[in-house]
Amino acid sequence: MAKKRRIGILTGGGDAPGINAVIRAVAKKAILDHDMEVIGIEDGYDGLVRNKWRRLDYNDVSGILTQGGTILGTSNAANPYQYPVKTGKRLELRDVSAVAIGNAKKLRLDALVSIGGDGTMHISNSLFRDGVPVVGIPKTIDNDLLGTDITFGFDSAVYVATEGIDRVHTTAQSHHRVMIVEVMGRNAGWIALHSGVAGGGDIILIPEIPYDPEIVAAKVRDRNRRGKRFSIVVVAEGARPKGGDVVIRRIVKESTDPVRLGGIGFVVGAQIEEMTGIETRTVVMGHLQRGGSPTPFDRVLATRLGTKAVDLILNRRFGCMVAVKGNTLTSVPLREVAKGTRRVQLNDPLIAAARSVGTCFGD
Ligand code: F6P
Repeated sequence: MAKKRRIGILTGGGDAPGINAVIRAVAKKAILDHDMEVIGIEDGYDGLVRNKWRRLDYNDVSGILTQGGTILGTSNAANPYQYPVKTGKRLELRDVSAVAIGNAKKLRLDALVSIGGDGTMHISNSLFRDGVPVVGIPKTIDNDLLGTDITFGFDSAVYVATEGIDRVHTTAQSHHRVMIVEVMGRNAGWIALHSGVAGGGDIILIPEIPYDPEIVAAKVRDRNRRGKRFSIVVVAEGARPKGGDVVIRRIVKESTDPVRLGGIGFVVGAQIEEMTGIETRTVVMGHLQRGGSPTPFDRVLATRLGTKAVDLILNRRFGCMVAVKGNTLTSVPLREVAKGTRRVQLNDPLIAAARSVGTCFGD
């Protein structure tokens, strides 16, 4: 009897709504259509280094479409090429990729599906170069992956951020205050731009457009003069003033991307209050944007991406990531994805549309 083909799945980096929907799509198609065996590798690349895995049968992936988080666990501090090892108080980053590759071989994986953002795709590209048959699936709430128009998780994060903006809108109105909503996104302004437009933010500050505090304050004053005694400011965690720098919340040494941004909302709030004399409050959406059930859009996208990844495996298109271009699914080489991150372009039509309805970008 012919040996069953066997695929592994792992989820790396920060979680995002829709991961379980992707795991379900990959595993169900592999099992139902192609009679494959599916292995779930636990805690991202950490599981490949430490040999932590379990079999995923049909029942393991049934009923998880709407669940937030990842049933496999994840890690953003387990790069096999720079694996954190603690000796006493010292943290060393060692290359243990040979161990990870050895474990993939021992598992007799015909393919490894890695679901992740830029850090995970970078590692996946290196493992592919070193002989592991990897196929990537683009995941991140930040929407900042090169090679794809959209990543799953983004729509859900925008939905939650918009809900937050809507809620502070009413209290800002009641108290005649300025309310600042700080959203995630690292060095890209996608979440701020989309939730800011969806929530009718009066001012949207994104990393790609350094802001001038005087212009922000002038917009708030102008609204007051027109009888709008409140203002809503949506600020991306990676936003920074002209000539100034980002606000760093913490450094996670063992992470593939050690800088954790956060706190710019409080800086902007203090600036506005001082310059306008109007009471200002700041709300940080934080990890609320990553948790909970994916939106219908993300569930659909996850199902499309996951099933397409199985097609790539069948066609032996290893070293590629499933990608969205316009309305169609395609694939891009991981080496292209690993080159950097995708930021908002200044000529993005949504920026022009927002400006046309009076939104200020602080420039
Ligand atoms: O990349 C996803 C993301 O949520 C970013 O938007 C944010 O900057 C970062 O991860 C937060 O990371 P952590 O969960 O380690 O605090």
